[in-house]
Amino acid sequence: MQPHIATITKIIDETPDVKTFQVVFDDPQVLDNFGNLPGQVAQLSVIGTGEATISITSSPTRKGFLEFSIKKVGRLTSVIHQLEEGSKIGVRGPYGNHFPYEMMKGKDLLFIGGGIGLAPLRSLIDFVLADENRKDYGKVEIIYGARSKADLCFKYDLFDRWPKAKDCQVYVTIDRPEEGWDGKVAFVPAYLEELNPSPQNKIAITCGPPIMIKFVLQALEKMGYTEDQIVTTLELKMKCGIGKCGRCNIGHKFVCVDGPVFTLAQLKQMPNEF
Ligand SMILES: Cc1cc2nc3c(=O)[nH]c(=O)nc-3n(C[C@H](O)[C@H](O)[C@H](O)COP(=O)(O)OP(=O)(O)OC[C@H]3O[C@@H](n4cnc5c(N)ncnc54)[C@H](O)[C@@H]3O)c2cc1C
Ligand code: FES
Repeated sequence: MQPHIATITKIIDETPDVKTFQVVFDDPQVLDNFGNLPGQVAQLSVIGTGEATISITSSPTRKGFLEFSIKKVGRLTSVIHQLEEGSKIGVRGPYGNHFPYEMMKGKDLLFIGGGIGLAPLRSLIDFVLADENRKDYGKVEIIYGARSKADLCFKYDLFDRWPKAKDCQVYVTIDRPEEGWDGKVAFVPAYLEELNPSPQNKIAITCGPPIMIKFVLQALEKMGYTEDQIVTTLELKMKCGIGKCGRCNIGHKFVCVDGPVFTLAQLKQMPNEF
């Protein structure tokens, strides 16, 4: 339960209320033994304020640092947003399960994200697109949306890095038309239905606001994706992160240990409390 002390080495302003923090452990051996996998989370802390569960948005294939993208919503996240490069932060983890990247080998991958929900997906996207793993996976498609242009996270990935990657298509949309945006305007589930990507030999991975996830899951099923072809990651309130406090349970499952990554087939066997 003891956090490791890390230093914030870079801060990127993603949107008016989301910042990405690159952190490096003060003891370099901690990262060597950290062993995070795509989709896992960490508990970030500021002494005297508290802790929050945050997805590790960097892929383990990107060495030397961890990245966390944090939306300012309350007490701790507001304090973290005031930190500067050089500030210290506590990190414990990694916690939870990970995206089933072994089961995804040989398949095409369809990522569908909304808002800050791209943060956990990004760890898997970069894992799959990394030189050492690229041959193990087929075509990568990324459908991503936010309320407005200003609310798009990871613009440097969406408009530069990922479109340049081999066999990778990126589709970006915003909810409402606005000046200076000549791209797509549609809600993510509607754009997904319009693009209508074939379910053949494909796994769909989605994360975003609950309302988006609800309609994305419906659209995928309508398009012929089976429950085992759909993977999502849940954001329920967590405290301990290690299956002890009972804060995150859905029925007999603990999201912090059994999740946060679930297939739709697994979700359908759980009580509808998420
Ligand atoms: C598995 C998992 C992964 C997550 N990944 C990220 C991430 O990558 N980036 C990120 O910005 N956030 C992420 N979150 C959400 C993050 O944990 C909360 O936003 C954070 O704990 C809020 O802390 P706070 O002290 O600032 O807010 P508080 O002051 O505690 O609360 C402010 C408001 O946010 C609500 N809230 C608090 N925690 C949560 C939560 N977990 N989910 C929904 N609403 C909440 C409260 O009800 C309240 O309305 C994740 C949560 C989980 C469980
Ligand atoms: S967060 Fe404590 S049991 Fe899951």
